[in-house]
Amino acid sequence: MHFETLSTYEKLSERAADFVAAQILLNPRSVLGLPTGDTPLGTYRQLAARHKAGKLDFSQITTFNLDEYLGLAPNHPQSYRYFMETNLFSKVNLPAQSTHVPGGIGEGDEMAAQYDRLLQAAGGITLQLLGIGHNGHIGFNEPGAIFTAPTHAVTLTPETIAANARFFQTENEVPRRAVTMGMRPILQAKKIVLIAAGEDKLNILQRALTGPITPEVPASLLQLHPDCTTLYTPEKPV
Ligand code: GLP
Repeated sequence: MHFETLSTYEKLSERAADFVAAQILLNPRSVLGLPTGDTPLGTYRQLAARHKAGKLDFSQITTFNLDEYLGLAPNHPQSYRYFMETNLFSKVNLPAQSTHVPGGIGEGDEMAAQYDRLLQAAGGITLQLLGIGHNGHIGFNEPGAIFTAPTHAVTLTPETIAANARFFQTENEVPRRAVTMGMRPILQAKKIVLIAAGEDKLNILQRALTGPITPEVPASLLQLHPDCTTLYTPEKPV
């Protein structure tokens, strides 16, 4: 496990974008695993700027997002599909059919199984970018998650619902269920870059990266990955 502390959120975003850009240059047909949340916003801005400057070509890239709320249509402003379209997909030359976000409307388990099949057919993730929740969740793999789980439907913890309420008008509007890539497809990624911004994430980062490897802290499983880099800055996303 490689760990780097960056002095600002901007520098963290540049560094994370460097990893993604290097991967794309190295293999223009890479499969990228992507997160949502506030933390990757700067990275997505960087990637969009590099594409605009003619330095990054996404035309042969495939993407798979980590998760999606169940019950939100793709055009719902709080859906993760909408987030990705707004913050990255519409700003780079990714073909629409090459972007994948789990379905939000339909039967959760069926959609999850179909998502896993697509991911397998694409050969799995080449580079997985990850954020981390305050309780150690990865995607929506909540504490207690089964380490070998494929993509599956989950019930969100009260802590995650409260944390994500900031994106909705009231906490009641936060969906209670989601579909998430499981820890298995995440850990099968060839390379992982975990990004965390803000001193409020330091405690869980320390637990995840140096504490016991336990389902109670899903991110602790990253300790077993052979090529995982963590980028941390005390500055909150701006
Ligand atoms: C959500 C997402 C996670 C994300 C986490 C942290 O729950 N499902 O994939 O990593 O929030 O978000 P943030 O970066 O906003 O702290």
